[in-house]
Amino acid sequence: MDFSSIISLEELATNSLRRHANYCFLAPRSLAKRVDPTTLIPAEVERMQLFKFEADRERFLVAHGLKRIILSNILECSPQEIPLVFGPGNKPYLRDGQCHFNLSHSGNWIVMMISCETEVGIDVEQPNASGEVPFSMVSHPNDDLHSTLKTAEQQFYASWTLKEAMSKWDGRGLDRPFNEIRLEATSGNTYRGYHEGTIWHARHATLGDGAHIAYASANPLQVFHLAVS
Ligand SMILES: CC(C)(COP(=O)(O)OP(=O)(O)OC[C@H]1O[C@@H](n2cnc3c(N)ncnc32)[C@H](O)[C@@H]1OP(=O)(O)O)[C@@H](O)C(=O)NCCC(=O)NCCS
Repeated sequence: MDFSSIISLEELATNSLRRHANYCFLAPRSLAKRVDPTTLIPAEVERMQLFKFEADRERFLVAHGLKRIILSNILECSPQEIPLVFGPGNKPYLRDGQCHFNLSHSGNWIVMMISCETEVGIDVEQPNASGEVPFSMVSHPNDDLHSTLKTAEQQFYASWTLKEAMSKWDGRGLDRPFNEIRLEATSGNTYRGYHEGTIWHARHATLGDGAHIAYASANPLQVFHLAVS
């Protein structure tokens, strides 16, 4: 994943994204000062205000502000008019299914994937030793990871983000046993995932600060990666 193409928040709000392209957006939490809270709907503002720590409020504001700015750009409607509904596991969808998207946020990062072709799942994790679950709950005995993942921590977070992205694809999320998903390394930083007859195509990357990102879909996708500044 190469996030060297940059788009500003202001450009995102005004420029048209290509409706039939697949995008993966990466945004830092530091954008919070430039996201207008009135972009959110009242229920989201209420959720944001429930967070005790400012960092959590900022991450929420950027995540849901970005979601509304990007979807309003694609759907050509105001950010507050996006027809969101909740499916299995409370995964948010667009009511008429004209586009698929998924959101994730952790530490200093927010990621969002959008595709008008097919359903998608995405995950970002900022490593945090205190919150780790045992690797045995994540690792399948026949997992095959790229050899560029050298340390146990890299292998853990790459496996975790890939499997969470795969599992968020259909809304099952953490309810799917990650150690039953088998990973197969394919070319570059891509993977296939296998579980109960489902095959995912996925991509993983590590950011400069050690955060891990992965996204997945049931079809191989050509994706534009954009860093939001
Ligand atoms: C969705 C889930 C994976 C979130 O995990 P997380 O690492 O805390 O969150 P992420 O930052 O990666 O993703 C959160 C975003 O994904 C989206 N989302 C919510 N539910 C989702 C689901 N079931 N599937 C896919 N995406 C989902 C939302 O946009 C959410 O943003 P929000 O929390 O700010 O509203 C987890 O709550 C889950 O597995 N839920 C479904 C099953 C469940 O509820 N099980 C009981 C708890 S174990």
